Amino acid sequence: MSSLTNKQILLGVTGGIAAYKSAELVRRLQDLGAEVRVIMTAAAQQFITPLTMQALSGNPVHTQLLDPEAEAGMGHIELARWADLLLVAPASADFIARLVNGAGDDLLTTVCLATAAPICLAPAMNQAMWKSPATQANLAQLTGRNIVCFGPAEGSQACGDVGPGRMLEASELAHLTAGRFATGLLAGKSVVITAGPTREAIDPVRYISNHSSGKMGYALAAAARDAGAKVTIISGPCNLATPEHCTRIDVESAREMHQASLDALAGCDVFIASAAVADYRPATVAEQKIKKTGRDSMTIELVKNPDIVAAVAASEPRPFTVGFAAETSDVVHYARDKLVRKKLDAVIANDVSRTDIGFNSDQNAVTIITADGETTLPQASKSQLARELIAYLAKLI
Ligand code: PMT
Repeated sequence: MSSLTNKQILLGVTGGIAAYKSAELVRRLQDLGAEVRVIMTAAAQQFITPLTMQALSGNPVHTQLLDPEAEAGMGHIELARWADLLLVAPASADFIARLVNGAGDDLLTTVCLATAAPICLAPAMNQAMWKSPATQANLAQLTGRNIVCFGPAEGSQACGDVGPGRMLEASELAHLTAGRFATGLLAGKSVVITAGPTREAIDPVRYISNHSSGKMGYALAAAARDAGAKVTIISGPCNLATPEHCTRIDVESAREMHQASLDALAGCDVFIASAAVADYRPATVAEQKIKKTGRDSMTIELVKNPDIVAAVAASEPRPFTVGFAAETSDVVHYARDKLVRKKLDAVIANDVSRTDIGFNSDQNAVTIITADGETTLPQASKSQLARELIAYLAKLI
């Protein structure tokens, strides 16, 4: 069930005749659900035009490191952060050598240096260049840095030689890319994740809510699924597609989310509360729309909602229970207080006073707090961060 749904794949294209296959690769990655952005080196543009790659990917193609216009749109650091995985296909012998040396003299090598995302290479070159001790030594160094090679295949080459050095076919590369997300770390586990906001009705047309988009929770669901878990999302109202192979239960209010969470506990191994649950709800819900005629002010009495994650942590048998902490100051201090007060196994703290991360952003940065200590995961896409969080939690479990 390897899939690239909701995955952001940055495709680097370097100079080699196999660059013509990169056009089809964009399509095959999209078939598996990926959003694709493309970086082309100067040499790649000798073989295939940026216009082709732009038309296929549906996104502008990035070619220059020092281009003020491009940097104003999505600069090299944003691209590096955007990627869930960087696939260089074809990867020429020259590009591989420059990657080994940590070069940063063009956009692609610079993004390779700047990204925290996994890097995969699909080498393509003449068979003698592939066999050369220099190329083999370079590849050994890259493997030591956890950079993965897909292929190459053996066969007849554009230059007339026969041997290893052909780039793998596009559909095989797309499936190998999807396979990189399947970790098996939570194989056999059942994971329940709350996501999104809740809505607390005031009257039939008004409600109290918050800015949660559900992106963090849905990214966690996809990452847990990729780790082999059976995943249920208990979702407040949000406008996101359900990650493939995940079960989704839609709720509106905190009390509905509370009931759905308790109902989902049978067989649940891990419960992750990423939802932004309203702490309070109106004490009464007006049956008819409240009229403003004759009112200069209005007071709504609020009563406390049940604490869902605390109830889960107090249940018997109890799943491994993880809460989030959305804080605007003293983030770690308040998050540790929640760990203790709600009797959680871990709390994931994020600073929601920042507009570039947290609520409704595509990025986040968190600190994982347990009884034993704290670990900070730096700013990355929610999708990348979710994979790091799931890998971390899997170790704790
Ligand atoms: O949805 P996004 O736009 O991607 O944004 C992600 C996020 C900022 C919403 C997410 O990363 C996050 O921080 N979620 C928790 C938000 C929150 O309500 O935090 P809190 O500190 O108020 O609550 C602490 C914990 O108790 C949370 O796990 C919360 O789900 C849980 N809780 C709170 C109240 C309640 N009545 N029941 C609960 O289970």
